[in-house]
Amino acid sequence: MTDENGTIESHPLHHGEEVESYPPSAEFRAQANVNDPSVYWRAAEDPEAYWAEQAQRLSWTKPFTETLDWSNPPFAKWFQDGELNVAANCLDRHLAAGLGDRVAIHFEGEPGDTRTITYAELTHEVKRAANMLTSLGVEAGDRVAIYMPMIPEAVIAMLAVVRLGAAHSVIFGGFSAESLRARIDDARAELVITADGGYRKGRVSALKPTVDDALALHGGGSTVERVLVVRRGENEVSMQEGRDLWWHEEITAFDGAHEPRGFPAETPLFILYTSGTTGKPKGILHTSGGYLTQASTTHRDVFDLKPESDVYWCTADIGWITGHSYVVYGPLANGATQVIYEGTPETPDWGRWWSIIQKYGVTIFYTAPTAIRACMKVGRQVPEQYDLSSIRVLGSVGEPINPEAWRWYRDVIGAGTAPIVDTWWQTETGAIMISPLPGLTALKPGSAQVPQPGITAAVVNEAGEQVDHGQGGLLVVQRPWPSMVRTIWGDDQRFVDTYWSKFGDQYFAGDGARYDDDGDIWLLGRVDDVMNVSGHRLSTAEIESALVEHHAVAEAAVVGADDETTGQAVVAFVILKSQQKLLTPEGAEVELRQHVTAQIGAIARPRQVFVVGELPKTRSGKIMRRLLKDAAEGKEIGDTTTLADTAVMQTISARMRGEL
Ligand code: PRX
Repeated sequence: MTDENGTIESHPLHHGEEVESYPPSAEFRAQANVNDPSVYWRAAEDPEAYWAEQAQRLSWTKPFTETLDWSNPPFAKWFQDGELNVAANCLDRHLAAGLGDRVAIHFEGEPGDTRTITYAELTHEVKRAANMLTSLGVEAGDRVAIYMPMIPEAVIAMLAVVRLGAAHSVIFGGFSAESLRARIDDARAELVITADGGYRKGRVSALKPTVDDALALHGGGSTVERVLVVRRGENEVSMQEGRDLWWHEEITAFDGAHEPRGFPAETPLFILYTSGTTGKPKGILHTSGGYLTQASTTHRDVFDLKPESDVYWCTADIGWITGHSYVVYGPLANGATQVIYEGTPETPDWGRWWSIIQKYGVTIFYTAPTAIRACMKVGRQVPEQYDLSSIRVLGSVGEPINPEAWRWYRDVIGAGTAPIVDTWWQTETGAIMISPLPGLTALKPGSAQVPQPGITAAVVNEAGEQVDHGQGGLLVVQRPWPSMVRTIWGDDQRFVDTYWSKFGDQYFAGDGARYDDDGDIWLLGRVDDVMNVSGHRLSTAEIESALVEHHAVAEAAVVGADDETTGQAVVAFVILKSQQKLLTPEGAEVELRQHVTAQIGAIARPRQVFVVGELPKTRSGKIMRRLLKDAAEGKEIGDTTTLADTAVMQTISARMRGEL
C-alpha cells in the first residue's frame, strides 16, 4: 500500500491487528523544527535540563537558577527564583525584536466583520487595558473573571490581567448564571469582564444579562465590585449605576504607556474550572513561568510553527484550556500570526471554516474530532469547493479521534499529505503531553502515540507498574512537568486526593490507555465518572445533582453513551417523586433538559431523559451506571447478577423501547 508520501507501513496494534502508519515525507522532515530523533533520549536523560533550555527562549526579567523544586510533592515549583512578565513575553518582546508590524490576529466575526491586529497594535491595546484595570483597582494577586465571546477584547483582557500580575478565571460563554456565580464565588473575583453579547448561529447571544442574573443569585452579596462590558452584540443591556462600566467609554482615558513588571515564575496566571467526579467543579490553578515554557515549546514543535510564514488557526473557544494554551499563550509567545473566528462552523453554512482557511491562507489548523465528524456527515463536497492547499499541518484534540475521521481529515482537509498531530492533554496538564512530532513520527490514525520530549507518561497496571507492549492499563505521568496544575484553587487536599492518592508519586490522569506492540500509546477514554461530550468534560455527578435539585425529581443517574457525532452524549434516567403532579413522564424530558441547561449550561443538556420506576442498584445501594450505559447504547445488557433486583433492567429496557 502506498500514498503520495511514499510507503504506508503496517504495524501490529495488538496481536493480530494491523494498523497502517504514515511516515513524514522527506520534504516535510527536512524542513521540520524537530527532525533529529535524538531529542527524545537527550530529554529523557535529563528532563530538567531539557526544560531549562526551553525556558531560556522566554524573556526573564530575573533569570532562574533552580529549574525544579520537587521537595514537597505533589506541589511543584518550576524556575521559582526567576521572574518574568507573561504578557510582555507575548507582546513587548516581539516589538523589541522588530516584529511589531507582523499580524498577530486576523479576526473574523460571525456576521462577516473583520479586523487585522498587528503585534504593535495588540501591545498598545493591552497596555491601555492594563492601565484601565489598574484604575479599577486590579492589583497583583487579584482574580478577574472573564465571560466573553471570541473577540479580540477577550485576548486583550486576559493579557491585561496577567500583565498586572493578577490571575484570570475565564468562564465559557455557554455556562449558565448558576455556573458563572459558583466560579466567581470560588475564585473571589472582584471584577468581571464581559460583553453585551456575541454572535452565535446567526444571532446575538446575550452575555451581560447572565452576569446580572449570576450576581443577583443567592440574594446578591457577591465579591464582585465592578463589571466591565465590551460592546459587541449591540443588544439592549441594563447597566447598574456604580457597578457597571462600558469598556469603550472607560478606555478612552488611557494611553499606551505601561511598563511591565517582572513577577516570580510561580505567580498564579489563571484558574480554569473543569469537571471532576464530584458535583463541584475544580479550579485548576496554573502559574506563569513553567506554563508559558511548555505551552510555547509544544506549540512550536508539535505544530512545526514557522512564525514568519505560517498562518495558524485553532478553533477552540478561550473558555477552554485549548483556547488558553493554543489561542492565547502558546501562539502569542511564539509571535505567530493566527486567525480568531467568533462563530460556529455552520454559519451561514458549512463552508464557513473552509472559506476562512482559503481567505487567510491558513497553514496550520487545530480542531476537535467532534467537529471533524460533523463536517464528515455534511459531506466532502463542501470543503472540496474551497482552496485548502495552504494547509500543511493538522491537529486534533479533546478525545480519541476515530481512524475513519482521521483519514477523512487528512484526505479532504489535508490533501492526503498533511501530517495530523493527535494531541493528548488535559486542563490539568496545561499543555500537550502526548503527540506525534510531525517531522519525526510515522503517524498511526487514532493514536496520540508518543510522550513529548521531557515528558514521562506511561501506561501502568493497578499496582502502578508499567505494563508491557500490547497491554492496557491506566495513563500516568511519572515526573513533574513545567505546565502541570499546581493545585485545586483553595483545596490542596482535593488536589492530592484526586490525582496523587492512587499511585503516590505518579500523576493519575483518569484515562485508560494501552501500548501497541511498538510501544505507541492509544488513549481509550475516561475511567472515572467524567464524560466527554464534543470534547468537553462533563461530570456525571454534577448533572445528577442538577437533576435532583428539580422539585419533581427523586433520584437521577446519568451516563455518557457513545454517540456518532459528539463522541459521548448525556443520557439521564430519573425517578420522579411519587407525590408530584407537575410532570408527566412525557413532559419530563423537555422540562428536565431545559432545567439542566439553566443549571449548568447548554453543553450539559441531556440528549435523552428517561423516566423510570427504579434504578439498577447493587445490594449495597450503588447505582450500576455500566448497565444503564449498555441500555442507553442499545446494547445487550451486561451482567446483572449483582443487582438487588435483577428485573429492574428489563423494565428499563422495555421503557426505553417505548413498551411501558
Ligand atoms: O479523556 C481525555 C480527553 O480529554 C480529557 C481532558 O479534557 P479537558 O481537560 O477538557 O481538556 C481537553 C483539551 C485538552 C482527557 O482526560 N482527551 C483530550 N485529548 C485527547 C483525549 N483523549 C484522547 N485523545 C486525545 N487527543
